[in-house]
Amino acid sequence: MNRDKHSVVSEFVLLGLSNSWEIQIFLFCFSCLFYVSSVMANLIVVVTVTSDPYLHSPLYILLANLSIIDLIFCSIAAPKMICDIFRKQKVISFGGCVAQIFFSHAVGGTEMVLLIAMAFDRYVAICKPLHYLTIMNPRMCILILVAAWAIGLIHSLVQLAFVVNLPFCGPNVLDSFYCDIPQLIKLACTNTYKLEFMVTANSGFISLSAFFLLILSYIFILVILQKHSSGGSSKALSTLSAHITVVVLFFGPLIFFYVWPSPPTHLDKFLAIFDAIFTPFLNPIIYTFRNREMKIAIRRVFGSILFPLKNE
Ligand SMILES: *[C@@H]1O[C@H](CO)[C@@H](O)[C@H](O)[C@H]1NC(C)=O
Repeated sequence: MNRDKHSVVSEFVLLGLSNSWEIQIFLFCFSCLFYVSSVMANLIVVVTVTSDPYLHSPLYILLANLSIIDLIFCSIAAPKMICDIFRKQKVISFGGCVAQIFFSHAVGGTEMVLLIAMAFDRYVAICKPLHYLTIMNPRMCILILVAAWAIGLIHSLVQLAFVVNLPFCGPNVLDSFYCDIPQLIKLACTNTYKLEFMVTANSGFISLSAFFLLILSYIFILVILQKHSSGGSSKALSTLSAHITVVVLFFGPLIFFYVWPSPPTHLDKFLAIFDAIFTPFLNPIIYTFRNREMKIAIRRVFGSILFPLKNE
């Protein structure tokens, strides 16, 4: 039917974030700073966990895997956005656009499953401490990882199946700095009402339900912790609050994008930057660097360059 659709639109024009020179400079500095920091912070976590034998417990293995995912995630849209900030004409090829959608949904879906797995890990650690090592054994960790990537890939392929068959017949201006489905389907020369509904149902429903599942599990764990409150509970409480913070920061923007798809506003775009660069940076900070064992391990691995503070 739409045999030659790609010959009509072979690339998309991205409007980027702003034409104001001051805002561009600000965005450039801000994005570079947080992109580089994200990459560094997550690399530190991965290197520390893999090279420190004391950190080979399930929690840290999952955290290191989360950092790998964050490394990929922040490298999907941010580098191109940073290079494009000062360009007058920002374009992305059809294939590049599809690739951005594919990777961001695959990696985002994987991250969601991993966050749920980490809530489960905390549940077992706090509510069934005696069985922790038998339940969260190495095979379980591998199983979680395989399941997470499989679910992420399937989710992404399902999303793509809708997009690649859309007829694009002319309009090719995306009011954004990266490709995602809600903006892309608005350009298709067909009635996209059903499709928008599908996207909302798919990405929106998945992120909303994962979010509520996570919040409910953490409330459940907190309630149990309250009942058996003892000496160790303040440490558990601080770990849990760190996890809850990450969950809210990760899902907040997603739910905003997919559940209430509205005309793009500046808020939309700034939230997108937040999700693309800032959340991957916060994960290692919130989950790991506040953690005492982790700080000691980083010092062990990297010498005293990063944490020159003495005994703590
Ligand atoms: C990620 O998880 C797998 C499976 O448990 C594990 O073998 C691997 O070491 C983890 N990656 C890192 C960087 O820790």
